[in-house]
Formats: sequence, C-alpha cells, structure tokens
Amino acid sequence: MRDVEVKSAAMDQEREHWRAERAYWFERMQEWYRARYGLALCDVQMDDATTPDGALVNSIQDAQKANPDAFFATGYRTMLFYLEELHDWGVDPMSLSSVLEMGVGLGRLLRHWSPFPAELHGCDITPPVVEFCMSVLGDRAEIVRNTENPPLPYEKDQFDFVYANSVFTHIREEKIEAWISELARVVRPGGLAIVSIFDPNVHLSHLSKRELDRALNASGGSYTWGNDTVRESFRHASDALHRSQWSVSFDLLEIRTHFKDQRHLILRRHR
Ligand SMILES: C[S@@+](CC[C@H](N)C(=O)[O-])C[C@H]1O[C@@H](n2cnc3c(N)ncnc32)[C@H](O)[C@@H]1O
Repeated sequence: MRDVEVKSAAMDQEREHWRAERAYWFERMQEWYRARYGLALCDVQMDDATTPDGALVNSIQDAQKANPDAFFATGYRTMLFYLEELHDWGVDPMSLSSVLEMGVGLGRLLRHWSPFPAELHGCDITPPVVEFCMSVLGDRAEIVRNTENPPLPYEKDQFDFVYANSVFTHIREEKIEAWISELARVVRPGGLAIVSIFDPNVHLSHLSKRELDRALNASGGSYTWGNDTVRESFRHASDALHRSQWSVSFDLLEIRTHFKDQRHLILRRHR
C-alpha cells in the first residue's frame, strides 16, 4: 500500500471513530437529561452549524475538535463528568441559580448548560473565541473577555458553581495562586468549583519516572513545558502542591480520575 493510501485509510478510521463516539455520547446525554432532570436537549447542543472552524479551534485546543463529531463527542462526555461530580457531592444542577465557566473557549461545554434554569456566564482571555462564543451562545449566556490577570468582571460571591476545564493546565505557575484566590472571590461560600488538571499517567507519558521526579523536586512540585501560548503552554503539579495552593480558600473534596482524560479537583469554597 502506498503512503497516501495508508494515510487516507487512517483518516477514514479516525472519522469513523468520532462518528461513533458522538452517536454514543449523544444518546448517553439525552437519556441522562431526560431521566434525571426531565429536560430535552437544545439545538445548540447538536447543530453542526454552531461549531467553530479549524483555525479558531487550533488557536486554543486540539485541532481534531474542528471535526464537529469530535467537538460534540468530547463536549458531551466532559459535561457528563461535571454533572456526575455535582451529583456525587449532593448538588442538583436544577437548583443552581448562577454558573460560570472560566476559560469558556468555543462554548464546547457551556452550551450543554442551556437546558438548565441557571443564569449562565462564560469568560475568556482570547478575543476571537469570545466573539465566536457570543455568536452561538449570546442569547442564552453572558460572555465576556477578561484580562490576563485578575480580577474577573464579577461580584464577590456571585456564583453557585464555577468550573474551568483545561484552563489551570495552561496558566503559568507564578499566576496560579492569584487566579485561585480570584475564583474563590467569585464563588459563594459553600459553593462548588471544579477545575481540571493533568493526569501524569496520560499527559506526561513522554517523561521517564526519574525525569518527572527530578523536575517536581527541583521546582517545589510543579512542572511546566511547551511554549508561552495558550495552546502550547502546559503545567502539571503534584497532588501535594494542588492541595496546599487550593486549601487556602477551598476544601479539596476529591481529586477524581477520568479514564484517558484530565483529572478534576472538586472543591468547596470555605464558609
Ligand atoms: C484548552 S482551552 C479550553 C476551552 C474550554 N474550557 C473547553 O474545554 O473547551 C483553554 C481556554 O482557556 C482560556 N484561558 C487561559 N487562561 C485564561 C485565564 N486566565 N482566564 C480566562 N481564560 C483563560 C484560553 O483562552 C482558552 O480559550
């Protein structure tokens, strides 16, 4: 088989993979919303016309998400992670009155809050993604651009629930503590926050055990790699470092592992 044929067969296989993933997770989400909350899904949760083009996707995340099947499949299953975590910690999403996604990107996740009654907010530092997000979600959610450094343009204690998916994995170490205290400012006391972090078993498999241990020891528990862009800057921290940084303002309820995916810190704002 010629190289070009091998490549094209691999691409067909990849497309088929995402088609099947999307169909599977769509069914799971539809059933979940119906059975648990009595809700039907909205158009923006399934309409290919509301997905971003390749250049826009590539500016902030994996280029594969420019494929609408991958965009929706990963959005469905990640949203289900957050709903499951809220459920397991006794929070009914139907009872939330205000939800913020920090680093909302292209609205891949926030759109799946559309059927719920909560007031929805999303913020991001990257102008073109904010513009895109406004264009597809502006009728349902308040989308704003925030600055590179805190504060966020919100009131103290404004939100019942805040989440940040694949955002603290890209913030530079020297800014992490300021952003943690800013999230704490906008979540009400007793409210939940969930942020995703890298799983070293998935995301650092390019390092040897010795290299990771040496890097974490040398830096007080964090390891940063890549260049300085949103898309290519990556930060991993040890559990001990996460614990000490977040516990200033939150109870760290759980660090949950997700198969072949990022882990989640599940946090409750100190009362
Ligand atoms: C990998 S993307 C994830 C987007 C979205 N959360 C998702 O899961 O599809 C990271 C996003 O975080 C945004 N971001 C990075 N640092 C930020 C900060 N300090 N405040 C707000 N957004 C930030 C980037 O502009 C980018 O859109």
